Amino acid sequence: MASGHEKVEKSTSLLVTLTIVVIAIGGLVEIVPLFFQKSTTEVVAGLKPYGALQIEGRDVYVREGCYLCHSQMIRPFRAETERYGHYSVAGEFVYDRPFQWGSKRTGPDLHRVGGRYSDDWHRVHLLNPRDVVPESIMPGYPWLAKNKLDTGLIQKKMRVFNLLGPGTPYSEEDIKNAPSELEGKSEMDALIAYLQDLGTAIKVRR
Ligand code: HEC
Repeated sequence: MASGHEKVEKSTSLLVTLTIVVIAIGGLVEIVPLFFQKSTTEVVAGLKPYGALQIEGRDVYVREGCYLCHSQMIRPFRAETERYGHYSVAGEFVYDRPFQWGSKRTGPDLHRVGGRYSDDWHRVHLLNPRDVVPESIMPGYPWLAKNKLDTGLIQKKMRVFNLLGPGTPYSEEDIKNAPSELEGKSEMDALIAYLQDLGTAIKVRR
């Protein structure tokens, strides 16, 4: 007499039907809990929203197209973590709108460049990269040192970030003080403030 198992294996339609049922159960177990979770991304402890100067610096980074040569996404492979530090995790990017992960690496990944060099090193490097890295093919950005920041838009930008969340990153106090934080600062000051903050929420061994 054929066992139950044998019956299933000998009938294509029964096998297909039961296979679909089993996959459907597996799918439900994986997918349904996601509907009841507030967020699938946990914010990394100690992650702070960008300050006013850093928001402006980030906009300079985007405007100048730094992402065309630099990624901000360290993959969880030994070759990457040995070179750059702890691999990137989703919870570090909750304030990045839009994120700057990128995929083109003409230059090194910048996700954990914060604190790696001094502000002065960045200043020289951005003016003319070959002054500190003789073989560098990165272009210089000397105009950033001359361009003063426009203080007119920062409050609007912060209010938009408050709408997007998570939570309410900026208090009324932060918003009120923002233009004075930008007063007299150059685009280069802002860009360096942004670079020095990158990837610092997770303490890394280098
Ligand atoms: C044409 C490609 C290119 C562009 C565009 C570019 N870079 Fe680079 N960058 C490089 C290369 C190549 C290096 C490695 C050599 C060096 O350090 O100069 C580098 C290195 C760096 C480093 C040092 C990273 C490290 O870990 O040593 C920083 C910081 C940096 N770039 C920031 C920027 C910023 C900010 C911008 C935009 C204003 C920018 N780069 C635009 C190619 C580029």
